[in-house]
Amino acid sequence: MTTRRTSEQGTSVQKTALRRRKRASSYGVVLMALAALGAVYAVLLAPQSLAQEQEQEQQEPANQSMQVEEGRQLYLNGCSTCHGLDLQGGAGGPSLIGVGASAVVFQVESGRMPLHAGVQQAPRKKPRYSIEEIDALAAYIQANGGGPQLPEGDLTDGDLQLGGALFRTNCASCHNFAGSGGALTYGKYAPELTPASARVVYSAMQHGPESMPRYSDAQLTEEEKKAITRYVRFLAESGDVGGADLGRYGPISEGLVVWVVGITALVGLTLWIGARS
Ligand code: HEC
Ligand code: HEC
Repeated sequence: MTTRRTSEQGTSVQKTALRRRKRASSYGVVLMALAALGAVYAVLLAPQSLAQEQEQEQQEPANQSMQVEEGRQLYLNGCSTCHGLDLQGGAGGPSLIGVGASAVVFQVESGRMPLHAGVQQAPRKKPRYSIEEIDALAAYIQANGGGPQLPEGDLTDGDLQLGGALFRTNCASCHNFAGSGGALTYGKYAPELTPASARVVYSAMQHGPESMPRYSDAQLTEEEKKAITRYVRFLAESGDVGGADLGRYGPISEGLVVWVVGITALVGLTLWIGARS
């Protein structure tokens, strides 16, 4: 009697040990799969960003004075009717002397310039000029009177956390927390920021178009502007991670939804486990 029981206990101990080993090996498989996925991801992404960097380097033109001359031609053809033959301004538009390369990048890369006559606020449009042409226009205007200029290098090379905090204190009052824009007075508006490239975001801060304030390097340092630029691009690129955006009403309402859904799922799981045993 006693011997039979001990032998029964022996087999059940063996069984649980076997089950545990099986479970451990299935954890091992999951871990290995995750590691493999991570490796594939890294391999696929790393060369891409390297290629992008090389492309950017190639885009930098070799000869500066040639660029200024090309810019002058583009300017005479596309801009001088409103801004004057010598950038002095006229009936159609303000003088561009001293506005700086940054203002040109902002206005032309966001498609606001060249303007269609007779609008309250120059709307964003599909840009008319290529990046090289924009840089040439900018170099020409920079060469005549100077002014703010985009810094060299990666404009999104900043701290994301810092960028978020600075965005909420400096920009969200007009552009909304999610950068989705908002109405201002007299039919004017602060636009949505999603379509703005890093160059447009950075130059917007230097240039201060329409009723937007101008942020000199004394107000927001280069490092801080880069952090904000990174954050704005992050908002635009991240889209809505994890499905629906829930209207982006903020952490409280979104947290509530997650809580309700999560608790329901947990209770369901508990009931299911209870019913099985
Ligand atoms: C149809 C007329 C018109 C044309 C063409 C035009 N602009 Fe403008 N531009 C304006 C007006 C008007 C403003 C000021 C109103 C505004 O900013 O919305 C302006 C503003 C600007 C500003 C901002 C100046 C400042 O002091 O803030 C820049 C930079 C600029 N234009 C560059 C250009 C360039 C470069 C071109 C050619 C590619 C161009 N514009 C073509 C009418 C024009
Ligand atoms: C007082 C309100 C106000 C504040 C504060 C403000 N902006 Fe703006 N912003 C505007 C307005 C108005 C425009 C549109 C200008 C135009 O149409 O020429 C604009 C345009 C822009 C654009 C261009 C978007 C496009 O269509 O390409 C960017 C990018 C931008 N702002 C970024 C910022 C950032 C970053 C900050 C904070 C550092 C900021 N803004 C703070 C009012 C504001």
